[in-house]
Amino acid sequence: MTVELSTFAKSLTAETAFTVLATAKQLQAAGKDVVELEIGDSPFDSAAPAKAAGIEAIEQNHSHYCPSPGLPDFRDAAARQVREEFGIPAERENVVVAPGAKVLEQFFCEAFLNPGDGVLVFSPHFPTYVPNIERRGGRPVFVSLKQSNDFRPDTADIERFLSEDPSPKAIFLNSPHNPTGGVATEEDLRSIADLIRGEPIAVFSDEPYCHMVWKGRHHSLMAQPGMLDQGVAAYTFSKSYSMSGWRLGFSVSSPEIADSIATMINTTLSCTPPFVQIAGKAALEMDRSERDAVMQEFGRKVSLLTQGLNAFDGFRTLEPRATFYVFSDVSSVCNRLGITSHGLALYLLEGADDHFGVACLGGECFGDAGAGFMRFSCAASDERLQQALDFIPTALSRETRVREFLEARPELCLAAPYRVEGEG
Ligand SMILES: Cc1ncc(COP(=O)(O)O)c(C=O)c1O
Repeated sequence: MTVELSTFAKSLTAETAFTVLATAKQLQAAGKDVVELEIGDSPFDSAAPAKAAGIEAIEQNHSHYCPSPGLPDFRDAAARQVREEFGIPAERENVVVAPGAKVLEQFFCEAFLNPGDGVLVFSPHFPTYVPNIERRGGRPVFVSLKQSNDFRPDTADIERFLSEDPSPKAIFLNSPHNPTGGVATEEDLRSIADLIRGEPIAVFSDEPYCHMVWKGRHHSLMAQPGMLDQGVAAYTFSKSYSMSGWRLGFSVSSPEIADSIATMINTTLSCTPPFVQIAGKAALEMDRSERDAVMQEFGRKVSLLTQGLNAFDGFRTLEPRATFYVFSDVSSVCNRLGITSHGLALYLLEGADDHFGVACLGGECFGDAGAGFMRFSCAASDERLQQALDFIPTALSRETRVREFLEARPELCLAAPYRVEGEG
């Protein structure tokens, strides 16, 4: 190649889940039986009403350009959902459709950030937040979520950010939270809203797991007075309706912010495919109890895996609160074996056995604050989850194999022991 890539392009890092996914697929192609718990995708079929509506929409040639902010009917249906389910005072003009929630991180940053602006990120965090902040020259400021605080955002961290950062501008909030499963309570959100209301601070409220709360129900920051003027909430069809490959999501914000996001869509994507929006509208209008029955399946799987893991020496996992991820503190296992948590995850996949492996992610894939943890996605059949649970203690008892794995991959050796919560 003769033309040098930009500094930004060279600095971009991809979501590790996709890298581990590629390794898992390679091993499977070579004949290994791998239980895949690395990627956050639904094992279920896309919602049936969406599939039927999508097929019909293609047949009826809804396959041309359409308005950048979205089809009016889709926007109305999305507004109705967040109004009825989360108490957000949204109407059509508050909603913009997008191909998934992820791209809204980029548009939020383009809408609000200037180079040098400070952006508070609760960590561990969804990996693409940082590249999107840096794409605009923003400056991520990390604060840790703690297992001892149920992985809830601490308002004291926000207060400190507002008073100490040289140019605080935005906050990335994600509740229910990937990877930890933590949930911000309505009280937490009220305190956050009270802190930032009227201040020049914008919030990206990432809410892809809004229908996966296992105790109580989901609350959105956008339901707090004034927050629609200061924030963008992002929703997706990937989780609630098992439609990750359709690429569909939407934002909720004030009409002014929505217009700005629509302009960004106009200048990049033009629009979101109309037949996908028509499928999405059918999903939004399907019987909510049918949707929630599928969600409960995830909840049951999370409980199954949590209970199974907590039975192992050295695994500390909170009781399930939300999402389909189980985020286990494995720091004492790592300390005993002298391996990083990312290393332990790769060992379960590649090193522990020639014929069988479990793909999962080390917590450091979600930032340094995740080190010492492992994330398991429960997007697999109960039988496969049980096979993973049966395998893990055997794998961990094969200490010679751990040693051989680390000799071959010295970069995965643990340089200094992890701090184990409750010890020292
Ligand atoms: C926290 C978080 N944000 C955004 C996304 C992206 O979702 P989408 O498929 O709608 O782009 C995910 C997907 O796993 C997620 O976990």
